Amino acid sequence: MPAPSKFTLNTGATIPAGPGRRRPARSARPVVHALKAGYRHLDCALIYQNEEEVGDAIKQSGVPREEIFITSKAWNVFHHNVQESLEKTLKDLQVDYLDLFLVHWPVRLVANGSQPLLPVNPNGTRSVDYSWNQEDTWRQMEEIYKSGKVKAIGVSNWSIPYLERLEKSWKVVPAINQVELHPYLPQHKLKEWCESRGILLEAYCPLGSTGPCCLHMQHHVPRSDLFTLTYLTYPGAPLLEDTEIQAIAAKYAVPPATILISYQVNRGVIVLPKSVTASRIEQNLKVIDIKEEDMKTLEAIAENGKQKRVNMPKWGSDLGFDDWPLPSCRNETGGGTPQRSVTLRILGIYASSNK
Ligand SMILES: NC(=O)c1ccc[n+]([C@@H]2O[C@H](COP(=O)([O-])OP(=O)(O)OC[C@H]3O[C@@H](n4cnc5c(N)ncnc54)[C@H](OP(=O)(O)O)[C@@H]3O)[C@@H](O)[C@H]2O)c1
Repeated sequence: MPAPSKFTLNTGATIPAGPGRRRPARSARPVVHALKAGYRHLDCALIYQNEEEVGDAIKQSGVPREEIFITSKAWNVFHHNVQESLEKTLKDLQVDYLDLFLVHWPVRLVANGSQPLLPVNPNGTRSVDYSWNQEDTWRQMEEIYKSGKVKAIGVSNWSIPYLERLEKSWKVVPAINQVELHPYLPQHKLKEWCESRGILLEAYCPLGSTGPCCLHMQHHVPRSDLFTLTYLTYPGAPLLEDTEIQAIAAKYAVPPATILISYQVNRGVIVLPKSVTASRIEQNLKVIDIKEEDMKTLEAIAENGKQKRVNMPKWGSDLGFDDWPLPSCRNETGGGTPQRSVTLRILGIYASSNK
């Protein structure tokens, strides 16, 4: 079966299968280039602090707004007032609606006069509200959806335990869950769970994120705080150099990046590769059909010993993913964090290793 060019959301709207431009660059130029080259999905977020540039790029590109699928995300300091995050995003992007609005992380940060978007406590830990109920954030998302300012709502970085808890009270089923996905982190169980509820997955870091990420954030964070505040992505997963992936790429006579992008589309996942390089922006538009035998190889790479997650911000809370390390600055689950067996299992491992 040929790889699809579009998927249908549970709202009935369509979304380009891929590739979408993840985290468009700080300057308008690569975004203009991408839109002119044919990209029609822009994956934005308030925390990327470049939405004004993206708005300028949309205008400069000459591509009509209604032809572009625009996603943005409510940032962590706005869980108590998601509307405020949306208003800032709409103003900066210079648009009057979004096609998709996501809760960026199931983590509420509390402003305390330190960093406005990434507040920290005096001891260097994040200013996280561990008692916050994510259901309260989702209720606000549902209100926003009803208002028509966003055509679909969804989540990002939500594990099965978090979704199971939300499911008990949601009135609108999330259309999307945007998570890290690549052959070293295929998240088969999460994909199955989401698909059984009509939730599509979006893949971020689909190329394994070859460099340190959050360079954008680093401009806004004191250098001394870099390693406590920013994402743990050093080094990225060496997917582009992986011999199994390279062998499949050679078989189809395409670059490894094309295999990684096409892998997601062929398994029914929207893919969001990021590049600021004109030639790669163009190269990443190509999606090929991958034969079943090669899909099987790609789907099994992680379980054959290469499992690796590259993006792990140190929020200090248990996000419910089996492979997420136990928070070192906080080792109990807060009132707003779902209780689950894996938490206890990990805590048990910690307890025994501390003996
Ligand atoms: N949704 C979320 O909640 C969330 C949360 C945290 C982090 N993230 C993001 O994950 C991101 C890191 O992942 P990413 O999305 O940037 O990773 P990615 O798409 O997997 O990889 C991007 C890297 O690959 C390079 N690249 C792009 N196309 C290529 C090609 N055809 N051949 C060779 N190299 C190529 C890019 O270089 P050039 O740009 O130089 O071309 C860039 O260094 C961060 O920006 C981070 O913020 C997302």
